[in-house]
Amino acid sequence: MTAQMTQRELFVTTALPYANGALHVGHIMEYIQADIWVRFQRLRGHTVHFVGADDAHGAPIMIAAEKAGNTPQQFVAAIAASRKPYLDGFLIGFDHWHSTESPENTELSQDIYRRLRAAGLISTRAIEQFYDPVKQMFLPDRYIRGECPRCGAKDQYGDACEVCGAVYAPTDLKNPTSALSGAVPELRTSEHYFFRLSDERCRQFLREWIAGGRLQPEVANKAREWLEGDVALADWDISRDAPYFGIAIPDAPGKFFYVWLDAPIGYLAALKAYCTRRGIDFEGVLQNPRTEQIHFIGKDIIYFHTLFWPAMLRFAGKPYKVPDRVYVHGFITVSGEKMSKSRGTGIDPLRYLELGMNPEWLRYYIAAKLNAHVEDLDFHADDFLQRVNSDLIGKYVNIASRAASFVTRYFEGRVVEPASDPEWTALAPEAVDAEIAQAYEGREFGKAVRLAMAFADQINRQFDAARPWELAKDPAQREPLHRVCSRCLNGFQYLTRWLKPILPALARTAEEFLGCGQLRWEGALAPLTRIGAYQHLMQRVEKKQLDALFALPEAAPEAASPAPASAASQHRQLATTISIDDFARVDLRVARILAAEDVEGSDKLLRLTLDIGEAKPRTVLSGIKAAYQPAELTGKLTVLVANLAPRKMKFGVSEGMVLAASDADGKTPAGIFLLEPHPGAQPGMQVK
Ligand code: MSP
Ligand code: ZN
Repeated sequence: MTAQMTQRELFVTTALPYANGALHVGHIMEYIQADIWVRFQRLRGHTVHFVGADDAHGAPIMIAAEKAGNTPQQFVAAIAASRKPYLDGFLIGFDHWHSTESPENTELSQDIYRRLRAAGLISTRAIEQFYDPVKQMFLPDRYIRGECPRCGAKDQYGDACEVCGAVYAPTDLKNPTSALSGAVPELRTSEHYFFRLSDERCRQFLREWIAGGRLQPEVANKAREWLEGDVALADWDISRDAPYFGIAIPDAPGKFFYVWLDAPIGYLAALKAYCTRRGIDFEGVLQNPRTEQIHFIGKDIIYFHTLFWPAMLRFAGKPYKVPDRVYVHGFITVSGEKMSKSRGTGIDPLRYLELGMNPEWLRYYIAAKLNAHVEDLDFHADDFLQRVNSDLIGKYVNIASRAASFVTRYFEGRVVEPASDPEWTALAPEAVDAEIAQAYEGREFGKAVRLAMAFADQINRQFDAARPWELAKDPAQREPLHRVCSRCLNGFQYLTRWLKPILPALARTAEEFLGCGQLRWEGALAPLTRIGAYQHLMQRVEKKQLDALFALPEAAPEAASPAPASAASQHRQLATTISIDDFARVDLRVARILAAEDVEGSDKLLRLTLDIGEAKPRTVLSGIKAAYQPAELTGKLTVLVANLAPRKMKFGVSEGMVLAASDADGKTPAGIFLLEPHPGAQPGMQVK
């Protein structure tokens, strides 16, 4: 028997997604990881408060809202309203979903700030920054463009050159312009507020916190490097000047908290809102010495969660508590390709669901590939099909259907006690049970799945070796038949417990079939007595579903595909009249073709890498191969439909569409003409 553990009280969060776009499969992967861990803890009888929220503040969201013609509040409210289908769809069991644009977050952020100030950890100093005289605002680095001070490359960002890799301050750029208005920015001085991370108290505390066994070794090493490295930890600039979408700094008119200050406080705001709703004492949860505060995050935001965040909490003092653990995961890639952080792409989670694909397939696949290290995880279609169909269904689900038919036919659903069966004892289910529990606890989900599948293999082997279909023919062999089938079903019950954190919906159906009530994970399982009617548990993945998920659209994918050739004439029927508003919804941008390449396996497409003045170049698959050699396009300017939803195609994801003219059939090689602006146009300029 497993010893009864003391009850744990867990406060678990996932990183707060920026409220400027839909959730992508990277977010979903993080939520699935955390959700599996949380479900495991709940099955063990522990108390978990599991919350998430939108990260609603900051300049990019303010600017995006303005572009969309909305207030930032309306903008983030619309995003918040879009989350539910993703979370419900993938069976993510947050207790509450909140927003950093909330009264709780304002109150907590201002409170924490006041306490840091009282502790002598806030300082101010004037800094010089670029100011856009047209937009009348200070410009974040990413909205300043200019020539690289080192190599002279044109149109580089305010912080680093994409051509030579130089890193610099925006004020070093030559001929800077504002990416928002195109105006020449002015240098202006303004007073900024700093969190004094360089204070010896912070360094001392962080040294201990990092060494305290709260972090994965590779994460602790990184944090230690930042803390002890040659470049001393700088004080952290936590203020931004109006106009800014954020939380006002107390006693500092016109100053707002930088978004990364109030974002992690959003974890607490979400917990507080949840507690209020449920009548739980928020401060009581934080103050309870047994409460463990745990943050699941991706590898790109370690810095914020292992330096600023624990230090802020430590020096804000009670009732706040420092994080007990930060669990960092790697990134999910799709067929080996990185996704764009801001635009997502890869696999569209909603499309996955719309295609009728089972969310538990993805949960299982991700679990099977996850471990406790900061390693990237690749989604690969063939691998996905194989693991779901051969392992999940072939090994686990099938056990139930194989045994059920005999037990129903010959034994009226009755199951015999396995205790007296030496072959059952040899399977050592309780030892496997303990090992799998330990794997879950340590986020070694891949290991948990492997152990479960190895157990399933043994059961299937024993079942085959017993040749139940032959035993069934001989009425004298009822007893051994009944024993092997019962063993299978009791094994299936254990497997269901072990996979329940990953497959909560399937587990519910299985529990009904087994007639065992809701399985928990405390001690040995009660032996089954009688099963219900077998219900089909899970459909197999079909290749055509995966093809559809990554489908190359039927139509010529790119180059503003010509309408069906109704007449061989150049003068085709005009499309229906639209209003200026309809047209304004199309965001056309001047794009520089940084690279053009053949697409392996495609005789229609070229892969274009396009600069439209964003942080990362876009990849567009364009059906212009018949008309252009890649080399003749490199360096040229063209026009991109920049706000077209990313489109999954057989050869990858296309993040927009370049404009081209074509004759009626668009097939004659000379019949496709890429649009090119007159000289002087710059990447990113809007075409209106
Ligand atoms: N808003 C910040 C987090 C603030 S937390 C107080 C942010 N948002 S994000 O939307 O860019 O990312 C949210 C989470 O998704 C992060 O943990 C990030 O690492 C994770 N992922 C983003 N892309 C990912 C993958 N491709 N794969 C797995 N996780 C990824 O950062
Ligand atoms: Zn350069």
